[in-house]
Amino acid sequence: MSLSRDELDRIQRLRAMFLDDTRGDRALLDYWRDEHDLRAYARVLGARIGWKWDAALSECRDRGLLRNEDAVVLDFGCGAGVAALRHVEHFGAAEVLCLDRSTIAAAFAAAAIRAKHPKMRTRAVTTTEGLSFDVLLASHVVSELDASGLAQLRDAIARSRVAILVESGNFAASRRLSSLRDEFAASMHVIAPCAHRDRCPALLTSSEWCHFFAEPPQAVFTDGDWARAGRDVGIDLRALPYAFVCLSRDPVQAPAVRHRILGRPDVSKHDARAQVCLQDGLRLATVTKRADPATWRLLKKDPLALRELPDATTD
Ligand SMILES: C[S@@+](CC[C@H](N)C(=O)[O-])C[C@H]1O[C@@H](n2cnc3c(N)ncnc32)[C@H](O)[C@@H]1O
Repeated sequence: MSLSRDELDRIQRLRAMFLDDTRGDRALLDYWRDEHDLRAYARVLGARIGWKWDAALSECRDRGLLRNEDAVVLDFGCGAGVAALRHVEHFGAAEVLCLDRSTIAAAFAAAAIRAKHPKMRTRAVTTTEGLSFDVLLASHVVSELDASGLAQLRDAIARSRVAILVESGNFAASRRLSSLRDEFAASMHVIAPCAHRDRCPALLTSSEWCHFFAEPPQAVFTDGDWARAGRDVGIDLRALPYAFVCLSRDPVQAPAVRHRILGRPDVSKHDARAQVCLQDGLRLATVTKRADPATWRLLKKDPLALRELPDATTD
């Protein structure tokens, strides 16, 4: 994994646009100039997003979402097709529809999926009109949409049997995602990260947001080229904050989620403190080494080792 000067320039140009906070509520104009932009994006920014999808999709699987080799999957705002690629690996598909306002991106994503899965049916599309699909994926797109893009996304969620949305774990994107979750919770089952249909507890406050940290592959810590790529791009590839929601038209069988840990627990010599999401609100829970040495030890070794705190620790 080493980046050429041209790839680095392209990634930095894209990142500057994504991070530009002077844009306010204005939608970002189409920024893909050619397929080299998408190729460069896929190598670092896309790879990083793929690791977040791996974490989100693993949780969906553990929450009872089943593999479906017959599904038609729509990747809304597909970019280089990272979400669809990860979804096909985890859950299978019969056909993938790559939707982007950029025809260059939609074609790139469809080709990327065919390259990895030569037998997969793929189609590049620029509108949801006339499409029928089972699974809707949306990745890092909610913050970019104007009113009509958002209306199209809402309509696509409403037409899907399963909708999985993953966003960067920042305050604004996560709260936007929680609002969308709340909108659809009356008509769809919430499968993950929570498993209830009450209002998102993070939205009951004005300062909190639902977010998690994914773990990158080991190579990010051990491979000097990844370290260099991160440094050159100006991004910490070891920190992967993300927010996600998985909605399903049909209920799934899974145990209740009681004390879902948000963010990264803070572990010290005698205890570990974690923000946990309960159905009726967020709480700061403390796991003491004395009362629950096994949980404390797990968190001490790896603060991201657990998704939930055991009941006994928090009740
Ligand atoms: C930050 S990129 C994310 C790409 C990809 N989903 C990923 O996670 O790597 C956002 C994508 O959404 C697309 N996009 C933005 N507004 C859109 C709209 N109104 N309709 C369809 N695609 C849109 C952009 O062209 C871009 O490819």
